[in-house]
Parts: sequence; C-alpha cells; structure tokens
Amino acid sequence: MCHNTAPDRRTVTALLAAGLGLTVLTACTPEDSKGTGAAGGSGTASPTAAGGPAVSSSPAVSSSPTATARQPAAAPGKGALPPSASLAKQHSLTDPRSPWVVVNKHRPLTPLQFAPPDLVQPAVQLATSGESALLNSTTAAAAGKLFAAAAAVGVTLTLASGYRSFQTQTATYNGYVNTRGRASADTASARPGFSEHQTGWAFDIGDGGGACSFQPCFAEQPAAVWVKANAFTYGFVVRYPWMLHETTGYYYEPWHLRYIGPEAAGDMAKRGITTLEEYFGLEAAPGYR
Ligand code: DAL
Ligand code: ZN
Repeated sequence: MCHNTAPDRRTVTALLAAGLGLTVLTACTPEDSKGTGAAGGSGTASPTAAGGPAVSSSPAVSSSPTATARQPAAAPGKGALPPSASLAKQHSLTDPRSPWVVVNKHRPLTPLQFAPPDLVQPAVQLATSGESALLNSTTAAAAGKLFAAAAAVGVTLTLASGYRSFQTQTATYNGYVNTRGRASADTASARPGFSEHQTGWAFDIGDGGGACSFQPCFAEQPAAVWVKANAFTYGFVVRYPWMLHETTGYYYEPWHLRYIGPEAAGDMAKRGITTLEEYFGLEAAPGYR
C-alpha cells in the first residue's frame, strides 16, 4: 500500500478513519523526513550572535512517532552554519523570551515554569477566554496583522488557544493521558514545560465554524489553506507540518502557528524549510529522552 512517494494527507485521513492508518502511516513516513547529517546544538543560532483544545476535539491520529531517531533534522555540510546564520539579526534558541526559542521533546523550557512577562490580549476574534486569550506582546501585535490580512480577503481566523501556563498545560496533558493513554497523548499534547504555548509565541487558530476544529479536516479549510500560504509574511510558521513528526515529535497541526519574525519565516519559506529543527540545525526530537 505504501509506494515510493508519501501518501497524500487525504489518503491517510481516510485510512485513519477506516482504522487502517497506523501501520500505513508509520510505514509510509518518508525517509527524507528523518534527516541526516551533523548535529546542531542549543544556545544561539550562530557563532556570530544571538487554555488548550478540548480532549474530545483532539486530532484523530493516535500512533506514536518513533522515539528512536537521534539524528539531526538538518543535513548541513561539515562545518556549515545553519541557514539562520545568514540572517542579519540573530536570537537565542534557548531563552524563552527569544522569538527563536526552540521548544520540543528534547528542549524543555528553562526555567520549566517560565511565564512571559508581557502577556496581552490581541485585537483579534476570540474563540477562547482567560489566559488562553493571551499572547506575548510581540506575537499579539503580529497576530493582529495576520488576522486582519486574512479578513481582508474573506478568510475568518479565530484565536482558539493561546498562552497556557505550566499549570494549564499540566491539566491539558493529563486530560489527554486519561483519555488516550500516555503514548497517544505524547503525539498530540506537550508535557508541561515542553509546550510552545507556555512561551506566548504560539497559538492555535479556528475558523469560526468549528466542525473541523483541531481535526485533520481543518487542513482543508480556507483558514488553514490561507495561513499555510501567507503566515510567513507576518512572521509565523505552521510549526508541526505534515509528515514531519519524526522531526518535530507531533503529527500535522495545521492550526498551530508559531511566531519567529518575518525575516526568519520568510527565509524558511524561500528555502522550502518547514521545521525549526532543520532551519536552526538542531537534532530531530521525535520523543522524550
Ligand atoms: N499541541 C502542541 C504540541 C502542544 O501541546 O504544545
Ligand atoms: Zn497549539
């Protein structure tokens, strides 16, 4: 059933719906999504430098990304700098106040219970409330521009889930574990201290409709199609791309946007790089150590 090319997302969604997808999905993960080459590291990117989704509406994908890969996501030549090194302005990859902080299953927040000092409510259409309607001030401003640009072409975006404190992420993750078990929970929800939502740099979008919220079919909705094509202009990336779960640790989340700034997001789009791990020359993080 799996050929030399990866199955398209509709095929896998149909297989999953039919209860056939788990083996196929694993078997069909493209080799090139696993990455090869020299390891990156933490710290700065260049030697020259610098309330969650309801459990019941979680993605209908339940197999676990394999936890064996330790290789880097990127494959720079020996001694080569990651693509980000060519940008004029560099930022820390470890400081949670940095727009380039990379948080994944190998890279917890430091400190683990970090809370952004500048949380604000963005001027966008809200589909949530309380702390979940907050973002850090830079992301909030960029989200305002993103949502307005979408609205200008008739695409509705809503803020479905923004900031999550360590405590909220604990409750969210435990909800997944209680409903789906730990292995499945780890494919969809970050453990507390390991979520981008805790940084204020990330949020989940809806489209004001709701039928496909946090579901695989959201990928086909105008909101997801538009952000996939245009979010980079406003400094955002779709953080968990299709079929790159062995790099990111999570299955496709077309609703999860992460702010890294227009320069880096534009550079990623230009180079056709879709994960932060590859862009910053960091190792793949399919599972917790
Ligand atoms: N769903 C993403 C991975 C999170 O929980 O942060
Ligand atoms: Zn998210």
